[in-house]
Amino acid sequence: MTPIDRDAVHPDAVPTDASNSVRPAVASPAVAHPAVAHPDAARPGPFGSTDGAPVIELRDVEKTFVVRRRVGRFRRARTEVRAVAGLTFQVGHGEMVGYIGPNGAGKSTTIKMLTGILVPSGGVLRVAGVEPARERLRLARRIGVVFGQRTTLWWDLPLRDSFGLLRRIYKIPDARFRENLDRFVDLLDLGPLLEVPVRQLSLGQRMRGDIAAALLHDPDVLYLDEPTIGLDIVSKVKVREFLRDLNRTRGTTILLTTHDLTDIEQLCSRVMVIDHGRVMYDGSLDGLHSIGESERTLVVDLAEPQPAIEVAGATVVRVDGPRQWLAFPAAASAAPLVAAIADRYPLADLSIQEPAIESVIARMYASSSV
Ligand SMILES: Nc1ncnc2c1ncn2[C@@H]1O[C@H](COP(=O)(O)OP(=O)(O)OP(=O)(O)O)[C@@H](O)[C@H]1O
Ligand SMILES: [Mg+2]
Repeated sequence: MTPIDRDAVHPDAVPTDASNSVRPAVASPAVAHPAVAHPDAARPGPFGSTDGAPVIELRDVEKTFVVRRRVGRFRRARTEVRAVAGLTFQVGHGEMVGYIGPNGAGKSTTIKMLTGILVPSGGVLRVAGVEPARERLRLARRIGVVFGQRTTLWWDLPLRDSFGLLRRIYKIPDARFRENLDRFVDLLDLGPLLEVPVRQLSLGQRMRGDIAAALLHDPDVLYLDEPTIGLDIVSKVKVREFLRDLNRTRGTTILLTTHDLTDIEQLCSRVMVIDHGRVMYDGSLDGLHSIGESERTLVVDLAEPQPAIEVAGATVVRVDGPRQWLAFPAAASAAPLVAAIADRYPLADLSIQEPAIESVIARMYASSSV
């Protein structure tokens, strides 16, 4: 086939040159180094189903960008941006890890280094035993990546043709391709969209197409950089269900960047908080909540307006007609609270709101005076 320079089309796409299709049968042993717990981290017990060597490992990884800005008419000033400043962590096979932090924290830069798109300025980085920047093509067989902000699909082609191109680029065996395609079309509701050019898809439809595209070649590791950004609640639920199923049935290791704590809450047993290019926390979401004593909100719709609900473990913070908002500790389970309310009040509907990531992180800083 004609080699396709996908990088030329999509600057952030993982390189997939058909001329280099050797997929290593067995990952070479990863560089061993002791598991690292960041000094600032509260890290409870073991996470997920890790077995053997870590699939992702970083040791003292740095990334500095040199930025040249125009100063006056002829002069340019050179400044350095330290996007990643000494990252050390490991992710085991089959883990689903949330990678969160404020804007500019270094999350996307980390993911770009883990795909080989960016070369680290220092440190050691391995994914499935491969050094990403040195062996991008070899690594491309082992990883899938979804950037929520931009598509890796071909803009003018129907979804089906994009998938067909990926089949040829990755040399996916016919039977396997059909099996995967059928499964993803079914689970992600892509059937009616297959003949539609990507540019005509809505954001949520395109995102589901991108997720399927990233997985057709059965990668061991999937990076998701804000996969639920801009999606409505129905699409978010669909995407989360899909990712949970993928992780459970195929053991795919998933690194998930998001600004939506509900994604983390529902998918990840482990969460890492990144700020200024460093790991500030590595542990469970409950652990993070309990450090900052953050609160979740239970939104209750009663059958008719009532005085403020009185229930142990939660406080009504707002009442609007039959709807009431109750704050409760984020590390606590909502189940007993819901049961207690349902027992005494005529409940029509309810939902739980996670706190904003920014507020959780702010509380974490405030409590540990970092
Ligand atoms: N190509 C680049 N050139 C110069 N600086 C860059 C480049 N890419 C990223 N940066 C800078 O590096 C820092 C980290 O950026 P990065 O995109 O990794 O943040 P992020 O954690 O993904 O943030 P967000 O939540 O907004 O997506 C920022 O200060 C950003 O301005
Ligand atoms: Mg980003």
